[in-house]
Amino acid sequence: MEVIICHDPDCAGEVSAAKVAQVCKEAGPGVVLGVATGSSPLKTYQNLAQMTRSGELDLSQATAFALDEYVGLPAGHPESYHEVIRRTVTEPLGLDPARVHVPDGSLAHIATAGDRYEAAIKAAGGIDVQILGLGANGHIGFNEPTSSLSSRTRVKMLTPGTRADNARFFASVDEVPKHCITQGLGTILDARHIVLVATGTVKARAVAAMIEGPLTAMCPGSVLQMHRFATVIVDEAAAGGLALGDYYRQAYSEMPAWLQVHV
Ligand code: F6R
Repeated sequence: MEVIICHDPDCAGEVSAAKVAQVCKEAGPGVVLGVATGSSPLKTYQNLAQMTRSGELDLSQATAFALDEYVGLPAGHPESYHEVIRRTVTEPLGLDPARVHVPDGSLAHIATAGDRYEAAIKAAGGIDVQILGLGANGHIGFNEPTSSLSSRTRVKMLTPGTRADNARFFASVDEVPKHCITQGLGTILDARHIVLVATGTVKARAVAAMIEGPLTAMCPGSVLQMHRFATVIVDEAAAGGLALGDYYRQAYSEMPAWLQVHV
């Protein structure tokens, strides 16, 4: 795992966007992105949007797969991840909406939604770079603690803590759906590169557990210890619980040029 400690969230947004753009350029115009919702990657998307506006990056032929979706929200609900991805990713990054996929959270089709999503990712050739945030309880996607480390896209129940965290997007916590459909930890591990962004003191414990704790389903993010090309980008506040913080800072600031070729 490559750990990059940035001084603030703006810097984390710039560094994460640079990492994602690097993979996009290596993968070519048909790059397949994995995209997260939530606050953490918003600055990443803003920087990527700026790169597409300036002509540095062209994502018009890219494909994207969202990590997760709430189950049972009416189509077009502003907080459904279909809508959030359209507002924060598809439009600003200039993606073709026909190639942007979000798990189907409609109750009528939920029984087959996971398998259909897995098949769509496979048909697209797999995800080149998966952008992730990290829950305060260590979740990635909506894989809550005790999720199977080899899980695939399926329905999960959100923990009360996650529903409380996401209540800020709804009128009250009671309106936050109890169920979601999420890529599994096994699905996420299949991505060729992973770029995770976490900022703020509220994430410090989860960041330390993910990077330095044991590999355990109690901290689903710790499964990234098994990935060959996972980059974790945090700000100083989120890095507060790391035992080896100085080592990560030194490794990044003194990285020789010949090593700066891959994520
Ligand atoms: C979002 C997702 C979640 C969030 C996590 C952090 O699609 O799957 O894992 O990344 O809950 O959320 P924020 O970034 O809002 O703190």
